[in-house]
Amino acid sequence: MNARIPDPKQSALFAPIEADLSAVEDRLLDATRSDIGRVRDISGHTLLSGGKRLRPALALLAARLVGRTFPAERAYAASAAAEMIHMASLMHDDVVDEAHERRGRPTASSVFGNGITVLTGDFLLAKSISLLAHNDANLHIVRVFSDVTVGMAEGEVLQASVAHDLTITPETYEEVIRRKTAWFLAGCTETGAMVGGGTAEEIAALKDYGAHLGLAFQIADDLLDFLGDPKQTGKPLGTDLKDGRVTLPLIQTLTVCDSETKAHLTALFQTPDISDTEIATITGIIARHGGFEHARMVAETHAARAVACLTGFAPTPFRESLENLARYVTARDH
Ligand code: IPE
Ligand code: IPE
Ligand code: MG
Ligand code: MG
Repeated sequence: MNARIPDPKQSALFAPIEADLSAVEDRLLDATRSDIGRVRDISGHTLLSGGKRLRPALALLAARLVGRTFPAERAYAASAAAEMIHMASLMHDDVVDEAHERRGRPTASSVFGNGITVLTGDFLLAKSISLLAHNDANLHIVRVFSDVTVGMAEGEVLQASVAHDLTITPETYEEVIRRKTAWFLAGCTETGAMVGGGTAEEIAALKDYGAHLGLAFQIADDLLDFLGDPKQTGKPLGTDLKDGRVTLPLIQTLTVCDSETKAHLTALFQTPDISDTEIATITGIIARHGGFEHARMVAETHAARAVACLTGFAPTPFRESLENLARYVTARDH
C-alpha cells in the first residue's frame, strides 16, 4: 500500500502561508464564540475536529501570489469566513446524508442531534457574512461568498432531486459538483486575488484555477467514497451509493457496459438498505469497466487546467504551492 499522502497542513504545501493560517485559526476561535453554550459546543466540535483548511489556504495563497497588497485583517477575516461556510455546509450535509462519521469522529448531528446542528450551521453561515459585513471595503467579498452559498444550496438540492436516478448524465453530474463544490473553491481564490490587489485578469485567472481545482477535488472525493481507506478519509465507504447518489465512475460504467450488466447494476443499486457486499460488487463491476480510471482521468484533466491558469504569474513559492495543490487533490487519500 502507498505511504499515507501527507495532510497539506503538515506538508510543504501550506508552508509559505503557515503564519497566516495560524492567524486565521485564532480568528476562527474568536468568531465561533457565543454567549449560547450549545452554539460554542457544536461549532467547537466541528472546528476542532481537524480538516485540511483547504478553503482558507486557497484564499491566502491567491492573495500572497498576487501580492500587491495584503490587508491582513481583511485577508484573515475572509479566510475564516470561508472555513465557517465550509463548516456549516458539512454540518448541513451530514444531516441530509445521515452521515455518522467525519474526520474520523462522530458527526455533530450524531452527537448533538439534527435540529440543533442545522441551527448551528445557520449560525455559522450568518456569522461568516457578519464577520465581513462590518467593514465596508468587504462588499465585493460579501457578494462572492453569498453567491457561493446560494450555489452550494442549489447544488445540494439538484443532487437530492436526481438521487436514485441511474439515467443521470455526466453533464448533470458536473452541474451538481460545479455548484456544490467548484464555485466555492473558485470564490476562495477569487476573494484572495481581490484582497491581494489583483487586476481583473489576475482575479479571473485565479477564479478559473479554483473552479477547475474544485471539479477535480469533488471527483476525487467521489472516487474516495468507493476506493478510500476509511482510516485515512475519516468517512465510511459507500455513503454515496447508500444515499442513492450516482457519481462519475458509475455514470461512465452505465454508458459503456452491456445491457445485462446494466440490469445487474440497476438491481444492485435499487436494493433497499444496500449492504457492504452489494457495494463491493458494484465497485468490482465499475473497476472492470474502467469507470474509476475514467473519473481519475477527468479529475486530472481539470487539475492540469487549473495549473495552466497560473502561467501568467511569476514563479514564487505561492504559485508552486497552488500547482502542487492541484496535483495533490487528485492523488490524495483523505
Ligand atoms: C469535504 O471537504 C466536502 C467536499 C466538498 C468533498 P474537505 O475534504 O475539504 O473537508 P475537510 O475540511 O478537510 O474535512
Ligand atoms: C460535498 O459532497 C458536500 C458539500 C459541498 C457540503 P459530499 O456529500 O460528497 O461530501 P462528504 O463526502 O460528505 O464530505
Ligand atoms: Mg456528504
Ligand atoms: Mg463524498
